[in-house]
Order: sequence, then structure tokens, then C-alpha cells
Amino acid sequence: MEKITIAIDGFSSTGKSTIAKRLATALNYIYVDTGAMYRAVTLFALNEALINEKGELDAEALIEKLPSLELKFVPTGELGRSEMYLNGENVEREIRSMKVSGQVSTVASLKEVREKLVQMQQQMGKDKGIVMDGRDIGTVVFPDAELKLFMTASPETRAARRYKELLEKGEEVSYDEVLFNVQERDRIDSTRTISPLTRAKDAIEFDNSDMGIEEQFERIYEFAKRVI
Ligand code: C5P
Repeated sequence: MEKITIAIDGFSSTGKSTIAKRLATALNYIYVDTGAMYRAVTLFALNEALINEKGELDAEALIEKLPSLELKFVPTGELGRSEMYLNGENVEREIRSMKVSGQVSTVASLKEVREKLVQMQQQMGKDKGIVMDGRDIGTVVFPDAELKLFMTASPETRAARRYKELLEKGEEVSYDEVLFNVQERDRIDSTRTISPLTRAKDAIEFDNSDMGIEEQFERIYEFAKRVI
């Protein structure tokens, strides 16, 4: 069976990664969460004190240090699951914190950061058989992807999902803080100059506000089967 490229883009916390993982496992494809890569670069900037208390980023210093930054997805052994390593250290948990979420869209708007990560992503998908989720996969990383999805859901639905996830991880956070972060990231991601978050013309828009995981998966798997 011929392998294809599946690009899943959309707003924050639309459940892209849950669906992308399920799809990759069902098709025996590689799954890549590109948000984890932007999050790891952001954690690096925080650890290196390149972001001050006011949230201002020393972009020049970060760009200078980019060549020394090594990102790797390491499989956990569990089917279809891998974790993010930054310079040899497992940072999977840390990159999901609110501290990183609060800064990631600023870091992701830097041209040099995007160039480095997009190149890595294109390399990972060069043999197809990949499901990649992010913000610019169908528009920039793989404009020729055979299947493109653009996931949406209301900000309140998304914030509620994210809030539940963070509470389960033991993070102390309020719903309002999460809602603000989700909306703020969407605003920055959609209005940045380089590769703004936008639906590719040939992407299928998929609103999952009122849909459970099972129903979403069945519908999207059907889309994939029509192409493969
Ligand atoms: O997918 P996730 O919400 O973890 O992504 C975190 C942030 O990384 C996004 O809000 C966005 O600023 C950035 N991002 C991006 N391009 C991608 C993936 C993520 O700019 N392809």
C-alpha cells in the first residue's frame, strides 16, 4: 500500500495530537508533534535565562545558540509514543508547563527558529508514512500532503480540555488563566508574519466542539482511507 503524508493543523488544544496519534497507530505511520519542538526551544530559552521576568525574549542570543541545540524524539517503547529530549535530557513533562505555554508563541514567531525546525520536520517526513500536527504543516512544511485537516473547536471547549489535562498532571492553574493562554496563543500564531496559522486551501475543516474522540477518529480514518 502506498504511504501518504497527513498534515493536521489547527488552533491550540483542538485535540490534534490525540487524533494524530490514533491515526498514526492505526496506519502504522510515524507521528510527529511539532508543537513539542517549539516548546523544547522555548524551554531552552527559559533555562538559559534568555527570557526575562517581564517575558521579554533576547532573540539575538537565542538565534546565536540555536546550532548548539539538539532535539530528539525518543520512542518510549509504548506503541506510537515518543518523548522529547533536549540536549540529551528528557523534557517531555517540562515542555507542557504553563510557563512554557506562556512564551512559546513568541519563540515560534522567530524566522530562524522556524527555519531550523521546518527543515528537521521535512527530513522526518521525507519517506512519507507520517502524521504530523502543528500550525503550518499543510501550508509550509508539507504543502503537497495528500490529506490535510484543519481542526477547530470553540475557545471554551479547548480551554476546558486543556485545563482538565493540566489538573491531571498536578499543575496549579485556573480555568481563566488557561482560557487566556489558549486565546493569546491563537492570536499570536494567527497574526505572526512568518507562516501564520491559517487553513490551507485544500484542507478539510473539522470542528470537533461536540464530538468525542471515537467519532472523530472514525470520520478522519475514513478520510484517510479514501486517499490511501
Ligand atoms: O501544538 P502546541 O499547542 O503544543 O504548540 C505550541 C505552540 O508552538 C503553538 O501555540 C505555536 O506557537 C507553536 N507552533 C508553531 N508551529 C507549529 C507547531 C507549534 O508555531 N508547527
